[in-house]
Amino acid sequence: MKQDMPSFAWAVGGGKGGVGKSWISLGLAYWFGRLGRDVVIMDGDLGGANLHTMLGIRIPGRTLDDFLLRKVETLDEILIPTNLSRVKLIAGGSELPSLANPNYAQKTRVVRAMKSLPTDVMLVDLGAGIGLNTLDFFLACPNKMVVITPQPTSIQNAYGFIKAALFRKISRIITPTPLKGLLDARPNDEQPPPSSIEEILEEVSISAPEVLDEVRQAVDDLRIRLIVNMSANSRDVKAGNVIQGVCRRFLSVEVEILGSVPRDSRVERWSATMDPGSLVTQDPDNGALKSLYEIAYALLRDIPTLEKNAA
Ligand SMILES: Nc1ncnc2c1ncn2[C@@H]1O[C@H](COP(=O)(O)OP(=O)(O)OP(=O)(O)O)[C@@H](O)[C@H]1O
Ligand SMILES: [Mg+2]
Repeated sequence: MKQDMPSFAWAVGGGKGGVGKSWISLGLAYWFGRLGRDVVIMDGDLGGANLHTMLGIRIPGRTLDDFLLRKVETLDEILIPTNLSRVKLIAGGSELPSLANPNYAQKTRVVRAMKSLPTDVMLVDLGAGIGLNTLDFFLACPNKMVVITPQPTSIQNAYGFIKAALFRKISRIITPTPLKGLLDARPNDEQPPPSSIEEILEEVSISAPEVLDEVRQAVDDLRIRLIVNMSANSRDVKAGNVIQGVCRRFLSVEVEILGSVPRDSRVERWSATMDPGSLVTQDPDNGALKSLYEIAYALLRDIPTLEKNAA
């Protein structure tokens, strides 16, 4: 999607399922709201939408499907109030397979509509995996967050996710060539896709030199912020350093570690009841919620567009 989302939009992805993307999105939304910002949180898990359930909403009256089906023309019309102060939800679509895989024009329309949302912050909670929708929404958001846990499988999947996002970004710049086919990793390809950015740049310099600068710029522009969730001790933060190292070495992508969030039994209890009230009534001076406060606060301080709206 050429159309970038507004600068207040944050994508929350991570590749692996169950690492806490949705909980982190909700926790950040909660704190941004408490810090005086209007927040829209969007369920970007098309086809597997359940963020509304995590907010205690059984059946959302309006969903992204209504927008995709053109029953409404703006996203404002499908915003749903939540129990979290200043936080509104765009619920994900339902069971229609066709809408779980919106085409390029539909995705572009969503992104364009986001621009006119009257909000200070927008969080897009993405699904697991490296499906094209997930990658496209991730790339369309100017701010990109990746959530991992210290498990090796999560580290592996997060690296795969960042790599797939980078390849998708580059592939969209290149006009049809064998390299584009490799980056898109079509199932029939006999050759594996390149494993490092060096290989890609070398190939671009041979087969598409006219876009070499643009590709270099695209790589430079990809900045990732990372949260290590469910950490059990201070060593677990090193999981972030592993990703940082391999992304720098093989992809030339900079990863900034925002911090870690401990494993907290209250989060598990909260998800068992799906009572958003219990998120709010947790002791904010302790545990996972407190770590997220520190991250949310630092983000507001560091991002000029958000600071502009500070109370
Ligand atoms: N810091 C934490 N401490 C304890 N439990 C956590 C923590 N973060 C998330 N969880 C729990 O882990 C489970 C998975 O979290 P969540 O649904 O947010 O993951 P996800 O990455 O969004 O998964 P999916 O890819 O399926 O959408 C939930 O039961 C959640 O409550
Ligand atoms: Mg989720």
